[in-house]
Amino acid sequence: MRTEFQDLNCTNLYRLPARATLIPYPDAESARQDERAMSPYYLGLNGEWDFTYYNSPYDVEELSGEAGEGIPGKIQVPGVWQLQGYGAPQYTNVRFPIPFDPPFVPDDTPVGVYDRTFILPEAFRDRQTVIRFEGVSSCYYVYVNGQLAGFSKGPHLPAEFDISALVRDGENSLRVVVLQWSDGTYLEDQDMWRHAGIFRDVALLSFGKERIADVWADTSLSNGYQDGELTVTVKAIGAEKVKWTLLEGEEAILSQESAVTDGEAKLAAEIKNVKAWTAETPNRYELIVEIPGQAERVFIGFRKIEIKDGVFYVNGKNVKLLGVNRHDTHPTLGFYTPVNEMEKDVVLMKRHNMNIVRTSHYPNDPRFLELCDRYGLYVVDETDIECHGVTQFNSYDYMATDPKWTTQFVDRGVRMVQRDRNHPCIVMWSLGNESGYGCCHVSMAEAMRKIDTARPIHYERDQWEKEAITADVTSRMYAGIDFMKEYAEGIPKKPLFQCEYCHAMGQGPGLLEAYWQTYMAYPQLMGGCIWEWADHGIVKTENGQEYYAYGGDFGEWPHDGCFCVDALTYPDRTPHTGLLEYKHVIRPVRAAMTNEAKGIVSFRNYYSFLSLSHLAGRYAVVNGAKTLAQGEFILNTPAGETEEITLNLGQYPAGSYLNFTFTLRNDTSWAPAGYVVAQDQLALALGKKEAPVCLPASPLSLEKTHEGYTVRGNDFCAAFNREGLCGLVFHGVNMLESGLRVNLWRAPTDNDNGWHGAAERWKKLYLDHLQARNERLEAKLTESSAVIDVVCLCGPKVLPPMMRVSQRYTVTGDGKIALDITYAPLREIADYLPRLGMRMALPKGFERLVWQGRGPIESYPDKKTGALIGRYESTVDETHEPYVRPQENGAHEDTAFAALLNNRGIGLMAAGNNFSFSAHHYTPEMLTEAQHTIELGHTDEITWLIDGAMGPVGTNSCGPEPLEEDKLYLKEDRTFHFAFLPFDAQTLSIDGAAKAVSHE
Ligand code: GAL
Ligand code: MG
Repeated sequence: MRTEFQDLNCTNLYRLPARATLIPYPDAESARQDERAMSPYYLGLNGEWDFTYYNSPYDVEELSGEAGEGIPGKIQVPGVWQLQGYGAPQYTNVRFPIPFDPPFVPDDTPVGVYDRTFILPEAFRDRQTVIRFEGVSSCYYVYVNGQLAGFSKGPHLPAEFDISALVRDGENSLRVVVLQWSDGTYLEDQDMWRHAGIFRDVALLSFGKERIADVWADTSLSNGYQDGELTVTVKAIGAEKVKWTLLEGEEAILSQESAVTDGEAKLAAEIKNVKAWTAETPNRYELIVEIPGQAERVFIGFRKIEIKDGVFYVNGKNVKLLGVNRHDTHPTLGFYTPVNEMEKDVVLMKRHNMNIVRTSHYPNDPRFLELCDRYGLYVVDETDIECHGVTQFNSYDYMATDPKWTTQFVDRGVRMVQRDRNHPCIVMWSLGNESGYGCCHVSMAEAMRKIDTARPIHYERDQWEKEAITADVTSRMYAGIDFMKEYAEGIPKKPLFQCEYCHAMGQGPGLLEAYWQTYMAYPQLMGGCIWEWADHGIVKTENGQEYYAYGGDFGEWPHDGCFCVDALTYPDRTPHTGLLEYKHVIRPVRAAMTNEAKGIVSFRNYYSFLSLSHLAGRYAVVNGAKTLAQGEFILNTPAGETEEITLNLGQYPAGSYLNFTFTLRNDTSWAPAGYVVAQDQLALALGKKEAPVCLPASPLSLEKTHEGYTVRGNDFCAAFNREGLCGLVFHGVNMLESGLRVNLWRAPTDNDNGWHGAAERWKKLYLDHLQARNERLEAKLTESSAVIDVVCLCGPKVLPPMMRVSQRYTVTGDGKIALDITYAPLREIADYLPRLGMRMALPKGFERLVWQGRGPIESYPDKKTGALIGRYESTVDETHEPYVRPQENGAHEDTAFAALLNNRGIGLMAAGNNFSFSAHHYTPEMLTEAQHTIELGHTDEITWLIDGAMGPVGTNSCGPEPLEEDKLYLKEDRTFHFAFLPFDAQTLSIDGAAKAVSHE
């Protein structure tokens, strides 16, 4: 058996030294065009290959010397084999997928043998031919014409092998033997699908006798960040001199030649008044390096990263890093994320106001970095190392403190820096993720610092002491707000970076605004990256229905269920509402009221470099569906400053809002002119109260029935039983399919199911099994109303009653049913609750939804600032949020009224005081049961959930509990006021109904 894949001293065989990502082009013009396929010196080998899948290295002749049976077929490169019909996907988070037996792997380690041929292009003749792999998991042997060309480990780093001596004119055979597991597997224990295969591009490159092998362009700023400093080192083998050109746009601002000594040419230049690179101003210069027959283009950006007195600076500014962690994940392609998909991600991140991405937890395809340079995103470039699985049986530091791993650690760190150091977007190197901390990290950091001094190092597990020892910044993940404050107030020498915070799994994350406030309050806090960008769901089809599968859906073990669907976007990058909330929280401009009477509003610019002049401001004074005043304005607020302007707000009634939108004035690379970058909203306090309106009242009758009471008016009839309102007929239309009942349950969110196990405790309180015992049912008819009192003990099954719920209904002759509902605890309820609410069901057809409250997206108490208060219209189906694992969704906070209407315009309105509601074609029970979208049924009737108060969503699926002040307790009696009104929109508008039902 070959030994390399189980040998900690071996990182490769015959691999060429790591270098920057450079594709050989024949001249400057083609280098600038950068169309790989157009270069005569590039032969792409992506496409269909022959493939044989083996269950064991023992069956593969190249590995064991003996040939066994394999499963033959075809495969697409790039791609992972588990999503192309070979083997099965496996998702595991921390636990190793194989026994921890380094450097060995199990006998039944799958092996994929890739075969294809290629014809050596004419232009490659008598030159050096190099084969380049951008990414292969886990490790691989390469054979050309039957001869071993090389071997490499480190799936997310490129490897190049010189195959000049193995290729011949005409047809050549190429075989790549890929092992799913290797000793590298112990270093590749990232929380992800454990796919295997050639998942990034493969190509042949051709070099002349004289060749540019590497270019390293180091940049900085001097003279108060005014001037650019450029130091370039070129490895030019066989060449005598190198020609350089530095272009700013189309203009060559520098052009010279340098001699090559000992295979290297060096250039140092200063560019006065340089246009610096930042994520906000991604100014790039093109450096063209030429020798006869070869040219390379490297984009460079001038910028300077510094840490001084515990504060992180980009170009002298204390920039807050607010962004996200991104995995290479695609719902049908797995690890393979084509360039257009990467670009889509970058554009979406920019559109959501982010300025940083951490390449969790390995180096990305180099073109991702190119995109970040171009569009403007800071990057934390992370080494391909995670040994998390050791925590299952030993100390976190077990591997990192064992020097036998040093070679592998250092190899991965150094190769990353050598590949990526030209990219201005990279502001920090990361030593990897969740691998404990030890001598291996110290050696790795040392080796990395030798080849790049311009960037600080981050590594989260470097936390033996309060401040990082080896890393340049102290890092934490999911640290609570109190921790951050305490750290910042302790006058640290190193700034604090939250490499992961606000776990975005399922419904959430809450707390975004609270984190933002804290980051902003302390210069020592660098900000952080949300975990994570995209759900890792995989498209699967069952009974002709597509859905997103997660861990366990492929029969694998071990697996970690839905923990891989924990992101800001769905697998196809449709934004989750958490992303929209994040966009709002990290908006570059915020409004505050200075003087409402005079219409003076102030705006704070949260950019670090840009003024606000590229945004078109628009304001509107809005009341319900009406816009009462509006106008446009342009701000010239410099970065970090505040500007006041005076607006003509006109006259407006109470309950009006002042809304702002800020759109792009011009097209940018990431969004067209008109794109809404930020919105804001200020509640106006000075509006005059409008006189209440009354609908004419008809006489009422009250009748005692077997069940309770019936109140009749002109064209309506409301019935009450021992639990409350149980029937409502209006215009002869039945409006209630089932009556109003107390509801305290919500289908657990992933955060409810989180570390502190709120949902577990709620289940132990049997909140999902409430039963009522009536204590009092009384009714009386007064001159103007019928008053029905319903008092119930509300008990969960199994346990003693939990609370007394008193409802007082006041029915008036206009058809309005006012409700005062009081929840009074009967015993101490120490825990916080999911919600304090009611449920009822409307018959099929009441599909149209109109509300005045937060929208259009769902909102929860700690996840709502981005859902502005306003008048919204939608449908029951449209307000459903199809989380990959179904859970509580679709609520709207701060609602003044909500109405459900059928297609005739017959509607039922509920009004109240900043309540929450949601309407669904399923019950909370169905939502609780379903584990995949296709398991969630669809009822004809509409379940309407109306909550006096909704509990927070938090981020506890992997992070702190909700803030104490956000939790929903029932320590003392709580009363909520509502009013219901059946109406006919044909003769009473929504506004009219809203006014008539307004309880004030
Ligand atoms: C972190 C880890 C991530 C991911 C996350 C939970 O601890 O670094 O890779 O597992 O937790 O989703
Ligand atoms: Mg982990």
